[in-house]
Amino acid sequence: MIKTANKFSTMLLGLAMAFSGFLMSCEGPEGPAGPAGTKGDTGATGKDGKDGITKCQACHSDAAADVNLKTAQYNLSKHGTGEVYLEEAGRIGCGGCHSGDGFREAIALGKDDPTSLATSKINCKTCHTIHKAYDSTDWKLSFSSAFNLRFKGLATDANVDFKTGNLCGKCHQARTYTRTPGDFDTISAASSTSSYSRFGPHYGTVANVFAMKGLNNIEGKEYSGSNPHANLAKGCVSCHMGKNSTNPAAGGHTFQMSVAQMGELTECKTCHSTGIPTAKATQIKALLAEYRQLLINKSLLDTTQALGEEGYNVLGEYAKLSAVGKKTAIKKADGDALLNYLYLAKDRSNGAHNPGYVLFMLQNGVDYLKK
Ligand code: HEC
Ligand code: HEC
Ligand code: HEC
Ligand code: HEC
Ligand code: HEC
Ligand code: HEC
Repeated sequence: MIKTANKFSTMLLGLAMAFSGFLMSCEGPEGPAGPAGTKGDTGATGKDGKDGITKCQACHSDAAADVNLKTAQYNLSKHGTGEVYLEEAGRIGCGGCHSGDGFREAIALGKDDPTSLATSKINCKTCHTIHKAYDSTDWKLSFSSAFNLRFKGLATDANVDFKTGNLCGKCHQARTYTRTPGDFDTISAASSTSSYSRFGPHYGTVANVFAMKGLNNIEGKEYSGSNPHANLAKGCVSCHMGKNSTNPAAGGHTFQMSVAQMGELTECKTCHSTGIPTAKATQIKALLAEYRQLLINKSLLDTTQALGEEGYNVLGEYAKLSAVGKKTAIKKADGDALLNYLYLAKDRSNGAHNPGYVLFMLQNGVDYLKK
């Protein structure tokens, strides 16, 4: 019965729509103008409108405690305070991830990179659709859908889905780089006078490590497990924006993770009922240090180019050239080992992003370099 009724109402609706369309398209010529109305005929005074400023005060006043807390937290985040923006401002090719308006333009175009904008810092407007409706719907996220990574390496498909965290992964992913097919990688100098190259995944490698797309299987050794954190309810946001009940300067809009904070998150307790383990992190830290030293010993890694400010050291490590300004050819497996290190070191989660995988890939690289 219900089905028939539904069908019927759909039919009626279809007819009504067709009919109104018919009326519109069959409008005849305009008739003669009517007589002029009586002069001085004013309507009744309308009701007073809502005071414009009340709308604004929902977010701009001392009473907007939640917004103010989030702003205070955001003021601690490197998104706003980091020094990279100062260098990359205005550079379109970098604006998709280093500037707020560039990110939004790229999203609107359905592209990775913007075409004209790269002039504002990463701010609230980067991630939220601020000043559209002037109400709480403006907190809608600017980007949240699954997307294709810029660089997927050996993976057969580039699509990733970190749920709410898609917003994060869109920027925290490897940039593309080329490898010469065959046995050798050709590493080019950053400039004719520089002693380092920019060969590799750039600095934000988290999305690739999380999704296991981009890294190399050194001498064919492949990880067979999956990421136990792949199905967290909000992806990256489950951890990085989790609340810390006693410390407003951790989690939330600081995006900062801490061990204390991980222990508080209820979502984690379904699997980690007795607290967050640390065994793998300890092994991972030791292996990373060993891996780094092995690369330095083999003259594959340049550790001298990092930005001066604290926190940037690991990010500023690059493939080393055999001579200043020159192209260098290196063995494929050496290239694989070097690239994997750049991914894993710049990930900087000590395994939290993908514990078993990070451990396996580090062991794989260290075993190869020690042969
Ligand atoms: C839903 C919350 C919300 C409402 C409502 C709102 N704003 Fe804002 N407004 C913001 C946020 C968040 C920022 C900070 C933008 C940033 O830094 O990215 C902002 C920034 C501003 C700025 C600084 C310049 C800019 O655009 O960044 C002005 C001026 C401003 N708002 C005026 C207003 C006025 C006037 C109203 C009322 C008509 C209003 N806002 C209503 C959230 C809101
Ligand atoms: C528009 C691109 C963009 C988006 C979106 C973005 N980030 Fe970032 N993020 C960056 C950049 C660029 C930096 C480094 C800024 C600097 O150092 O100057 C950064 C820095 C960080 C840092 C600090 C790293 C450090 O060295 O201390 C964390 C943590 C972080 N982001 C997590 C997140 C999370 C979680 C999300 C999603 C909620 C996110 N980011 C969304 C671009 C982005
Ligand atoms: C796919 C997004 C993306 C693009 C495109 C991008 N970056 Fe980045 N970049 C990042 C992220 C994310 C970080 C911060 C990583 C972190 O803190 O974990 C970063 C960090 C950096 C750093 C700090 C690393 C250091 O040396 O200590 C520099 C410098 C930098 N980017 C330069 C550039 C330049 C120059 C361009 C354009 C040619 C560019 N980036 C394009 C995402 C991007
Ligand atoms: C790097 C991206 C990013 C930036 C920048 C950012 N936010 Fe957010 N914001 C998020 C995400 C992601 C969520 C959703 C968190 C969740 O689902 O737990 C959120 C949630 C919120 C909410 C709660 C919305 C709701 O529906 O209840 C408010 C309010 C908010 N942000 C305010 C701000 C303000 C104010 C700023 C600037 C000072 C800001 N955000 C900057 C990513 C961002
Ligand atoms: C299971 C929890 C968890 C998830 C999920 C997670 N992270 Fe992390 N992340 C961490 C921990 C823990 C660290 C290390 C923090 C530290 O040592 O200061 C970290 C470090 C980082 C850093 C470097 C920050 C720094 O201060 O060195 C960035 C950037 C980052 N994560 C981005 C992301 C992005 C993007 C995603 C989603 C693709 C993500 N994270 C998902 C736990 C998580
Ligand atoms: C679906 C189950 C599951 C959930 C939910 C989960 N984890 Fe895990 N987590 C694991 C597994 C499995 C491991 C690997 C344990 C092992 O083999 O040592 C792990 C390992 C870790 C590690 C590395 C431990 C080490 O030995 O160094 C950290 C950190 C971690 N989880 C943090 C979190 C946080 C924070 C959350 C909540 C946001 C979370 N996990 C939620 C299953 C889960």
